[in-house]
Amino acid sequence: MSTNYEATSLRDSLCASVSVAHVGQRLAVCGWVAKRREHGEHLAFIDIRDRSGVIQAVVDGTVDVRNEYVVRVTGTVSRRPEGTVNDKLTTGEVELTECMVEILATAEAPPFQLDDRVDIDEQVRLRHRYLDLRREQMQKNLRLRAKVNAALRAAMDRQGFCEVETPLLWAPTPEGSREFVVPSRLHHGEFYVLPQSPQIAKQLLMVGGFDRYYQIARCMRDEDLRADRQFEFTQLDLEASFVSQIDILEFVSQAVLDAAEVATGERPSTIDTMTWAEAMNRYGVDKPDLRFGMTLQDLSDVFVGTEVKAFSAPTIKAMRVPQGAEFTRSRLDALTDRAKGLGAKGLAWFRITADGVDSPLDRFLSDHERDAIRRVDDAQPGDLVLIVADDYLLACKVLGALRVELGSPPVSQGPHRYVWVTEFPMYEGLDDDGNPVAAHHPFTMPHPDDIELMATDPLAVRSQAYDLVLNGWELGSGSVRIHRADIQSQVFATLGITPEEAENRFGFLLGAFKYGAPPHAGFAFGIDRLVAIFAGEENIREVIAFPKTQSGADLMTGAPKSIPDKQLKELHLKPVKGA
Ligand code: AMO
Repeated sequence: MSTNYEATSLRDSLCASVSVAHVGQRLAVCGWVAKRREHGEHLAFIDIRDRSGVIQAVVDGTVDVRNEYVVRVTGTVSRRPEGTVNDKLTTGEVELTECMVEILATAEAPPFQLDDRVDIDEQVRLRHRYLDLRREQMQKNLRLRAKVNAALRAAMDRQGFCEVETPLLWAPTPEGSREFVVPSRLHHGEFYVLPQSPQIAKQLLMVGGFDRYYQIARCMRDEDLRADRQFEFTQLDLEASFVSQIDILEFVSQAVLDAAEVATGERPSTIDTMTWAEAMNRYGVDKPDLRFGMTLQDLSDVFVGTEVKAFSAPTIKAMRVPQGAEFTRSRLDALTDRAKGLGAKGLAWFRITADGVDSPLDRFLSDHERDAIRRVDDAQPGDLVLIVADDYLLACKVLGALRVELGSPPVSQGPHRYVWVTEFPMYEGLDDDGNPVAAHHPFTMPHPDDIELMATDPLAVRSQAYDLVLNGWELGSGSVRIHRADIQSQVFATLGITPEEAENRFGFLLGAFKYGAPPHAGFAFGIDRLVAIFAGEENIREVIAFPKTQSGADLMTGAPKSIPDKQLKELHLKPVKGA
């Protein structure tokens, strides 16, 4: 046997490692009974499964085992008789014969078939996640995740980053999501907060002289769950001093490309960069999926002074939908409703025909306008052109959302197209009090060319914030941080955060900055998301060992749960009935 990390005091080999090279050897494997077939009274075939795969054991006589019994089988490795070789199994050429079967544990019949070819209700899978984890797909996904983690760690170590663990019992962080709070037993009526990210801690580490920090960090956010969102998730979190944006992009690119290489076997060449303004203009989103076209086209110039009333708007954006001319009227109506739901006043559609367009608006078009529509993105007969006329950003966003809904390939479909999106706006609109809302977090450094605009036109200020996007998923984000007190005060003032409030919320960070804060920048990306895409899974639950359901429940443990009165009392808590 090869250098054998697989051997233990109970077994000599993993099931799937047994091969023709071992023919004639007697060895023991351990695992679960995956399948059992009787051949009369004198012969039974048992498939033994462990994490590596399956091996067939041929047992003389009868043996009382059922599916999912845990067994140790000692047998002689033999070639399978001619005609019984199974090409679908890695061990398909061999079997164990003259077997001795020891039952290590009995098992009740599992509530579902542990077979990847069978579709199982997810609720049932999650209720018995420990059984679900025995399935090959889950084994593959979690092992892929472990490989990705190892590659990320190695890449960060190689680049001189130091792994530091930061607290889970912490004070509020500025990410802006709702936080999970933990009552303090010793401090009556006071609470810890579970970190939404190690943001402030890592900035404090920069003040503390750890000029390259990273962590595979668990983060907790009490937000609505979706396919790409869980309450608890994991980031590769990093921060570095004496760097600028370009350095961070390079550190992260190295780590992500290394992870891609171990996960897919191929190293993507490089990662392209696109500004936020370009992403919005061409794709209508800040996380463009570059796997497909359908880019947005600007027809504003064409429709200046148009007869089409619906098109008297500052911006006319168009998008070609390949083969969309076959959409039924009711589908087009549904698309229009969707556009309205997204905030547009309406949606104009034009079926491209051999000699013109088919649309209720056709009779209002000039020849020049009709021509321009027929040429959108090289449209061909059979295509559909959708137009939104509105304010610039709204028109982009509405068509951008329709582009994703109509064109997105499934997650499992390659290629993997990474893109850095840079120069995000500093603020994303105004809150109810008319104050700009920080697009990233309040420690993000404005773009050096835009600092003067902060007082006069804050919504036009670009930031030094950047996102990494993969196939339409936001993998991560980061920014160059503010390390100068004067710029920080200016940003707080723009956000409507008073000095008292700033002191109250972030006093310990601002206090630390008084003692010499190096210029620093950082980034964090979601490992769950990265691994889900590598695994071709639509939902990050599939790459998390024990995830929560959409409604935040853990079906296996029953969490969240009530706790005994005694414990409540210790924590100085009293549930409010009916609240
Ligand atoms: P941000 O809030 O953008 O940035 O988070 C970074 C990345 O974390 C992942 N992520 C999630 N994954 C699963 N479930 C969630 N609920 C969830 N929320 C976020 C995403 C996201 O892109 N401290 C900053 C980073 C920095 O500036 O350094 C931060 O946390 O992949």
